[in-house]
Amino acid sequence: MPNARIIGTGMYVPERLVTNDEMTKIVDTSDEWIRERSGIQERHFISEECGASDLALEATKIALKNAKMTADEIDFIIFATLSPDYNFPGSGVLLQDKLGLKNIGALDVRNQCSGFVYGLSVANAYIRAGLYKNILLVGAEVHSTGLDFSDEGRHIAVLFGDGAGAVIISATDEERGVLSTHLHSDGSKALELCLINPGSRKIPRYYEGIWEDGTLYPHMNGREVFKYAVTLFPRVINEALETNGYSTEDIDLLIPHQANMRITEAIAHRLKLRPDQYFSNIHKYGNTTAASIPIALHEAIEEGRVKDNSLVILAAFGSGFTWASAAIRW
Ligand code: ACO
Repeated sequence: MPNARIIGTGMYVPERLVTNDEMTKIVDTSDEWIRERSGIQERHFISEECGASDLALEATKIALKNAKMTADEIDFIIFATLSPDYNFPGSGVLLQDKLGLKNIGALDVRNQCSGFVYGLSVANAYIRAGLYKNILLVGAEVHSTGLDFSDEGRHIAVLFGDGAGAVIISATDEERGVLSTHLHSDGSKALELCLINPGSRKIPRYYEGIWEDGTLYPHMNGREVFKYAVTLFPRVINEALETNGYSTEDIDLLIPHQANMRITEAIAHRLKLRPDQYFSNIHKYGNTTAASIPIALHEAIEEGRVKDNSLVILAAFGSGFTWASAAIRW
């Protein structure tokens, strides 16, 4: 049975840089409030009409270059996003078309902040089963066009940024690559972090008052999210370690979903990790949801923090609630 190995990574963020000071011109907020509660200093927003698939395309080009591959060698696409270009079809087929590919399958993953790890688990299973040799997995988000910059939405609007990360996952006979993945969910918490409309439940879907009731913007119970995140992140990280016979001392690099610096610090504290054992770049990009792990992974590699044979743990928690981890021998 082949193993699945990440052989190339790429990332892309739109050019428009929005610092916290810049944010104070859009939202009633302050640099101090945002930094203290999230660690975020700046993020990137699109400045012209552009979808998640456009950002994904740019990240993919870099991932292909790093993998020393051409697009026609990709035999399957997995696209994780909560902000697709259109309600339907998904962004996977749009990316396929933009890459000039014909006929190959494109799967869209709807698991929000956990989307990349969920997608990785699918890619790993497909490759191990011998179905595909080279899978393109992307996480890409355009949040900025859907945030509520009024007082009602400001606790959410300041946290999110636009961006994309891509990886090429290939079959290998070497004894390395993805060691395990673990996926979890608890739908009883679905409405603690959600975007309700436009949804299919209402008759008619675009009912009178839809603009006034706040359901066209994301809703987040921040305290509930924080409470569950700091419990479930460590649990799913430990699950990844125990499955493979490792302990926290064996982690070379933990790349958690970049939700909030306070959440990352709480995880590191609970697991007693040294600062060199975990990665954070939320100060530069904000929360880019499905894109945050592949963007962080790409930067960690560029900074030389992922080396040959490193034990890398990816971990995510988010809307659903969903949470997930992956252990990778690099
Ligand atoms: N700027 C300035 N003041 C603000 C802002 C803002 N952007 N947003 C809210 N406030 C004010 C509120 O009006 C309130 O003022 P009041 O005390 O006078 O009434 C005060 O700040 C506190 O508001 P809360 O909403 O209670 O803010 P809280 O301290 O809970 O912090 C936060 C909000 C940062 C979201 C926090 O709950 C948190 O860290 N949650 C974790 C969840 C998270 O980070 N999610 C990220 C995305 S989800 C994911 O990726 C898993």
